[in-house]
Amino acid sequence: MTTLPASFRIKSFGCQMNVYDGERMAELLGDNGMTPAADGEDADLVVLNTCHIREKAAEKAYSDVGRLRREDGSRPLIALAGCVAQAEGAEAQARSKMIDIVVGPQSYHRLPEMVAEAALGRRPIDTAMPALSKFDALPRRRKAAPSAFLTVQEGCDKFCTYCVVPYTRGAEISRPWDDVVAEADALIEGGAREIVLLGQNVNAWRDGPRRLDALIRALSKIDGLERIRYTTSHPADMTDGLIAAHGEIDKLMPYLHLPVQSGSDRILKAMNRDHTADSYRRLIEQVRAARPDLALSGDFIVGFPGESDEDFTRTLSIVDAVGYAAAYSFKYSARPGTPAAAMEGAVSPHVMDERLQQLQERIAKSSLAFNRSCVGRDTRILIDRKGRQPGQMIGKTPWLQSVFVETDAAIGDMLDVTLTSALRNSLGGALRTAVAA
Ligand code: 5AD
Ligand code: SF4
Repeated sequence: MTTLPASFRIKSFGCQMNVYDGERMAELLGDNGMTPAADGEDADLVVLNTCHIREKAAEKAYSDVGRLRREDGSRPLIALAGCVAQAEGAEAQARSKMIDIVVGPQSYHRLPEMVAEAALGRRPIDTAMPALSKFDALPRRRKAAPSAFLTVQEGCDKFCTYCVVPYTRGAEISRPWDDVVAEADALIEGGAREIVLLGQNVNAWRDGPRRLDALIRALSKIDGLERIRYTTSHPADMTDGLIAAHGEIDKLMPYLHLPVQSGSDRILKAMNRDHTADSYRRLIEQVRAARPDLALSGDFIVGFPGESDEDFTRTLSIVDAVGYAAAYSFKYSARPGTPAAAMEGAVSPHVMDERLQQLQERIAKSSLAFNRSCVGRDTRILIDRKGRQPGQMIGKTPWLQSVFVETDAAIGDMLDVTLTSALRNSLGGALRTAVAA
């Protein structure tokens, strides 16, 4: 084996799939003899695991590259990974001389050999998009957080007109059933009690005739696994089986992240979303019929080309109609190569800012109302981090709310609590009886 530098740091931007990829790169580098740099310590290798979905994220990655130069003028080896790497390829190294390695999301199993090459002064690039061979080349999972991510699907065939994902992550592709189950087993052995199945279009997952509901059902039979979640879903792939699963599988948490993007049919059509505001609402009614306490979250884009005040008002109405527990909203950002980038009717930055602010206020109101409606409920939380006060821990409810509780329980424990107070982003809870860890 070639000698690699001693220490590394991985910085992930963007979505949970990047967080997952970052964990797997860390395991891989660790298996090759490198160690994670401690906080505040200079790393010999820095991997920037980038996101390309909105312009600022890519710009941020480039400025982060610049900031890696140390005071004495030296710098670590720098690897640009993730979707900016995929989209920019050789361009990235032309734009910044500091980038030694460019590695796309389907090639990071090759990272150790690329680091070795870079250590010899070369500038390796790999942005090939083979099938999911990287998963076969990665080490088995050994340690996992109480809530662990597991990527089961990558890429997207939906071609929403604003989105770069079909270009950066390629066509929809699913990991085979056996691989997923084996990784879930390993994560649970490594300490996970909750598994979050990830995919750009996770509910498009399939292995032959088997769809995501069958996979969730199989995982729910694994002892030691207490909770299952999945994200992100497209309305077009909410199969009857998956809707029914929400009512039938106790371990499947009552939470659904289902982006709608806009409440205006005209804009949804221009976005190539395959659903209307009404068909989206009916779909939500169906899932709620299967699981009445379902909490919903969504994604919204404001300022898509041609969006009028009236279109935007419809977006606000859908927030009120659905009663989201949480939602993410973004200003439209034209991405090179996407059909929307060539559309007319650009919305001015000022109008975008105003709409975003209004939408976020409406969402905040909805989150607060949802959290308040939960006060008084008895529920179970999975402790995932320490609070700021001594003796305070933070855990997640089935509806993905953060609950602050006074307890001497440890991370990974599950506790029965009564929800006692509500803010927009968190709740207070009082301990009932501790459940055996
Ligand atoms: N501009 C703004 N937001 C976008 N998203 C995707 N592409 C864009 C874009 N070009 C948002 C969508 C998606 C989320 C992950 O990011 O809301 O659901
Ligand atoms: Fe992008 Fe649309 Fe695919 Fe989501 S469904 S990844 S928004 S193209």
